[in-house]
Amino acid sequence: MTTGKFITFEGGEGAGKSTQARLLAERLRAAGHEVVETREPGGTKRGEEIREFLLSGAARDFGPMGEAVLFCAARDHHVNDLIRPALTRGNWVLCDRFSDSTAAYQGAAGGVRPALVRALERIAVADNVPDLTLILDVPPEAGLKRAAERNAEGGIGPDRFEGMELRFHEALRACFLQIAEEAPQRCVVVNAQQAETGVAEDVWEAVVDRLNP
Ligand code: TYD
Repeated sequence: MTTGKFITFEGGEGAGKSTQARLLAERLRAAGHEVVETREPGGTKRGEEIREFLLSGAARDFGPMGEAVLFCAARDHHVNDLIRPALTRGNWVLCDRFSDSTAAYQGAAGGVRPALVRALERIAVADNVPDLTLILDVPPEAGLKRAAERNAEGGIGPDRFEGMELRFHEALRACFLQIAEEAPQRCVVVNAQQAETGVAEDVWEAVVDRLNP
């Protein structure tokens, strides 16, 4: 039995998920809630190790299915060690990416069959389904430009998935929008091509509307 609220942020590259998760956490804390901010892949020590392995491109040779299994292993650990305990304590958990990213990156864009994606979801997510998923939608060209600017500031190159061709990123966007269409009770699409404060307002409106913080 969990009494907390579980919110996930999803979208393509450079959509501003991390910033929006942080802004939402601040607002929820100001309203008196206990908030846990986390991300995928990662969130736990072991999960962060798998993250490094995946995003450096070292796991690329496993192929999309092998990578999906690794994302799933990290998620299983994350859910059991961090997410479910926090929800049981009554916390709000804000997670930067979750299982919809596997459906989009490894499934729709990577070619792993939907039945396999669903099987992995049954293993790692089970009944820990988000109460709300905010899909930050931005055209891939604009998102990739933002991601490249952020990388340049940090003096780093594109990671495993940022470096994929435009077609890959277009498939991601289409998949996230389709997920939102198929699960309207869980998902809200937010226009992420506006100023940060505008996106934050839309995010807050969705949270108030769906979860009454
Ligand atoms: P991201 O939060 O975008 O990291 P950063 O903001 O530092 O670039 O996510 C990491 C990457 O991992 C991103 O390219 C999407 C990818 N990813 C998958 O391919 N499958 C998954 O299941 C998850 C959670 C992430």
